[in-house]
Parts: sequence; structure tokens; C-alpha cells
Amino acid sequence: MSVLDIVRLGHPALRTPARRVEEDQLAGEEIDRLVADMLKTMRAASGVGLAAPQVGVDLQLFVYEVPGESGGEERARGRVVVNPMVEPEPGEMVYDWEGCLSIPDLRGLVPRHPKVRVWGLDQAGEPLDYEAEGLEARIVQHEFDHLNGVVFLDRMRDLRSLSYSQELERYLSEDDIPSPAVG
Ligand code: NI
Repeated sequence: MSVLDIVRLGHPALRTPARRVEEDQLAGEEIDRLVADMLKTMRAASGVGLAAPQVGVDLQLFVYEVPGESGGEERARGRVVVNPMVEPEPGEMVYDWEGCLSIPDLRGLVPRHPKVRVWGLDQAGEPLDYEAEGLEARIVQHEFDHLNGVVFLDRMRDLRSLSYSQELERYLSEDDIPSPAVG
């Protein structure tokens, strides 16, 4: 397994819709290695999600991990979603802090759907169909956007919250310091 280079804003991969993964690529060595490398890269960068275009790979695939999902005892389980479709469930948009491994250090308040339905395949090609809410829903929407050439800055409704993480820590009171979803 290796830690891959994460491309930054300005790299065309972040603005290009990704290609679907072909069925015969699934359950293959190449995809298994890509998934293992992406999970390792995401963890090394202290991220909660990573989409293939962020490592310069033109495929509809993302990985993520919900912090504290397993009660903090056992390590959160890495999830893999291939060729996803994400649709919002009813509910008012929720604002929370996000950051992006491809836009280092910047944080902003981003509105997201509180609950989404996710369809896709796992890395073995088995169908996925589940609902995600809260932080997981936010991560899934952020990563799904990456597969369509969209970054969190595009989703912000008011750029005035855009801040460097160091400045947030310096100027916000301790209780207000966010723990942003960075993916
Ligand atoms: Ni991102």
C-alpha cells in the first residue's frame, strides 16, 4: 500500500466529471489496490473521505470513514462506494464546517441535505442501497460532488465564513471551534 499524492484545486481532475467504473474492473486487483491506497492516503492526511479524482484517477469511486461511528473503541470502518447515485431525502438543509484535502487549510460553512439515499456498488461489485444522515450524509455529498467536478466552495452560499483553520482556532472561543468534515 502506498500513500498517493493528493491533487489541489487548479488540477483539471477536480473539475472534470469522472468516468464510470466498468463491471469487469470490479473485484479486480487494480481496484483493490486503488481502494487500499486511497484509504491509506485519506488516513495519512487526517481526512474523513477521499474521491478518486483527488488522487488524479478518473473513476467514479470514493472512500470514507465516519469518525466515532463505532463508539470510539474500535476503528471506524472504511467504506467504498463505486458508481454512486446520491439523492436527498426530505429535510431542511443543515450548515456545518467543511474542508477539502484538495483545498488545504481552508474551512467554510456549507449547506447540505440532512439525509440522503445512496445507491452504487461496493468494490466487489455488490449493489449498495442505504441511507446516510448527519455527518455521514455530509461526507457522502462532499465526495459525490468530487465525482462531478464540484468542490465545497461551489456549495457555499456565503463566502464570508471562509477561513483558514489556524485563524478559526485563534479567534473562535474554544466551544465554537469546529471539527470540520475534511474530505
Ligand atoms: Ni474534498
